[in-house]
Amino acid sequence: MNVGVLTGGGDVPGLNPAIRGVARRCYQHGYKVTGILDGWRGLVDGDVIELTPDRVTGILHVGGTILGSSRTNPFKKEGDLQKTLDNVKVLGLDAIVAIGGDDTQSVSLKLWRDHGVHCVGVPKTMDNDVGGTEFCIGFDTAVGVAVDAMDRLHTTAASHHRVLVLEVMGRHAGWVALYAGMAGGADYICVPEQSVNIDDIVATLKKRYAEGKRFGVIVVAEGAEIQGMKEDVTDARDAFGHIALAKRAVGQTLAEHLERATGYETRAMQLGHVQRGGTPSAFDRMLGLRLGVRAADMVKEGKWGYMPALQCSKIVDVPLEVALARNRTLDMDLYETAKVFFG
Ligand code: F6P
Repeated sequence: MNVGVLTGGGDVPGLNPAIRGVARRCYQHGYKVTGILDGWRGLVDGDVIELTPDRVTGILHVGGTILGSSRTNPFKKEGDLQKTLDNVKVLGLDAIVAIGGDDTQSVSLKLWRDHGVHCVGVPKTMDNDVGGTEFCIGFDTAVGVAVDAMDRLHTTAASHHRVLVLEVMGRHAGWVALYAGMAGGADYICVPEQSVNIDDIVATLKKRYAEGKRFGVIVVAEGAEIQGMKEDVTDARDAFGHIALAKRAVGQTLAEHLERATGYETRAMQLGHVQRGGTPSAFDRMLGLRLGVRAADMVKEGKWGYMPALQCSKIVDVPLEVALARNRTLDMDLYETAKVFFG
């Protein structure tokens, strides 16, 4: 059995532990492991390496992915799908383990369901919004980075009596914003799931200053909706058709509006790719290893079109169709709890 492994979409710390988990378990099963380079791009172009045991040694604590990643969508460009299907045959791949978020898994599902390619998924995204699992690889590390940023912004905001706005990633889901904001003591948290009005943020800050706390820290997810705030529109898009939200720079726009409305000096920081870089947390290492091992076992069992997932601390098998049926957006009860600490 020859098992292909790839990592697709935005990279996160924890991908290498997942690759290690898949590979080490495959070796135990007596399988050959083929590393497909740069996500689905490697399958379109037939760009692979053999993942020998020495290649997965010493990678557990290393961020990024030894296989490289891309947002290539083989269903987008004419001819790419045929090249992909041909390469599965030419390379002799009996199965593919695709480690990635919803875009990557939508390709896994279509390749299996519509073209019979033996695909198993592994959920990864710092956004934490793949359905069917409580946690995705990369989320915990990203939250750790964002909380560290919050702690640092807090002290400088207090010293200079400023409002600091931290923009974190999170396109459709505000998990990172919510966790970073709540654990980091934010005075307001803006998430994509809950449209808020700029006047409410202004009122919260004014009340806080009136109480003598002459600084504030606000977290905004890049995909948050803020009513009453005029924005420049960006239309730069990736291969899956998503707007490049970093260019929207909602944090900067929010900071400018707040400064005008309150008169308080306000600055913004876009945390950006630092959230996806560096060493994986212990949680993400454990999650990557556990999901990786189970994915290799699913290959052995021929459980195509499924992904391993974390539910109530246990690894369970979830059909990709179920996982992709809808984004796992924020638990709004948790957002209500976070609001207790606003202002
Ligand atoms: O992978 C999801 C994500 O982290 C989003 O939160 C963010 O919008 C996007 O990646 C950024 O992607 P890129 O690195 O391609 O700019």
